[in-house]
Amino acid sequence: MSKHTSGERTIWVNGLIATMNPEIDDQYGLLRDQAIVTEGHRIVEIVPQEDLKIAAGQPVVDFGGALVTPGLIDCHTHLIFGGDRAAEWEMRLNGASYTEIAAKGGGISSTVAATREADFETLYNRTIQRLAALVGDGVTTVEIKSGYGLDLENERKTLEVAAALQEEVAVDISPTLLSAHSVPKEFAGRPDDYIDEICNNIMPALYEEGLFEAVDIFIENIAFNLEQTEKLFKAATALNIPVKAHSEQLSNIGGSGMVAKFDGLSTDHIERLDEDSIKLLSEKRTVAVLLPLAFYFLKDTIIPPVELLRKYKVPMAVSTDFNPGTSPFASPRLAMNMACTLFGLTPAEALAGMTRNAARALGRESIQGQLKAGYQANFAIWDVERPVEIFYEIGRNPLVGRVFLGASDF
Ligand code: NIG
Ligand code: FE
Repeated sequence: MSKHTSGERTIWVNGLIATMNPEIDDQYGLLRDQAIVTEGHRIVEIVPQEDLKIAAGQPVVDFGGALVTPGLIDCHTHLIFGGDRAAEWEMRLNGASYTEIAAKGGGISSTVAATREADFETLYNRTIQRLAALVGDGVTTVEIKSGYGLDLENERKTLEVAAALQEEVAVDISPTLLSAHSVPKEFAGRPDDYIDEICNNIMPALYEEGLFEAVDIFIENIAFNLEQTEKLFKAATALNIPVKAHSEQLSNIGGSGMVAKFDGLSTDHIERLDEDSIKLLSEKRTVAVLLPLAFYFLKDTIIPPVELLRKYKVPMAVSTDFNPGTSPFASPRLAMNMACTLFGLTPAEALAGMTRNAARALGRESIQGQLKAGYQANFAIWDVERPVEIFYEIGRNPLVGRVFLGASDF
């Protein structure tokens, strides 16, 4: 994608810069008449344009008045899976609930069967299309979970697809092990034994192979309980692997409190999160990840406790949760739009949720999610006058280019 080779000192002028830097006294950290100076992968400084000294032959890129934001960060996706769940969606539209479908062996289990069936190339080819859609919406970092393989071989296959995509696509992939997504049929009725299999076999083997960087679990009445979660988190922590969870999506069994106990990266969904758990989160580094597209697709009616998260200053991220069952939407812009309309976030909170706070949810907050000196040169460039227009209109995409690690397609 590169018109600018890495290593070169490059000056980027005439952008309206939404730095998302909270130290700047504006909700988007907006800067006007300033230039971004990059060297290779990094932003070196942001300086007033009038102070610029441009050496002869130095590359200068003119944004032409476009809005520049940090590259978007989609911090929660299940991008890699076989098959689809369109028929189940139709069942739900005809009246069945997500829980009922799961209890009948549908839901996650049907995607597990299809994923085990699918070969590497099929998974790769399907995923690269979805990844292209995210990239087309301005994404430069994306988290991708396993969790539809549920045994060593198929979890490895899934994560190897993520690793291959990382080589091919100009995007930073943060892979997560979600083997504790559901109990596979070989362990039916023996969830504790399956947790042991993850702790003793799947997790250490695939971590050793360098295939993931965090561990996730679905804490829910229809999935794993707190005791099982604690066991997994202890085993992960012993290997120095950060943890996160799907929590309080369908019920509240105290999952976020357990994530807080282990100082987890994020607790995700959280429609049914309570104030006491929020107090626990507020003392930790944990990010609350909001997934409005899954809320919408499941026709949920209980919205996450946004006001309390603000009150206790728990950072909020926003993500697509792309997956075949509850969020078949590869559109970060739609997720930000719906975070505002359905959950009541302000547009600045929604954009912070896909930049600064999403970076924190992936442990990348010191290098990604803001435009400031020392951060990676990852930009999304938009043909808009104000930031809210990034996700105001869906259908016409105002993205005009991305810069990823200093290499530009703008
Ligand atoms: O984030 N909640 C659990 N996991 C996914 C859904 C996975 C599926 O239904 O396939 C989610 O919504
Ligand atoms: Fe999810």
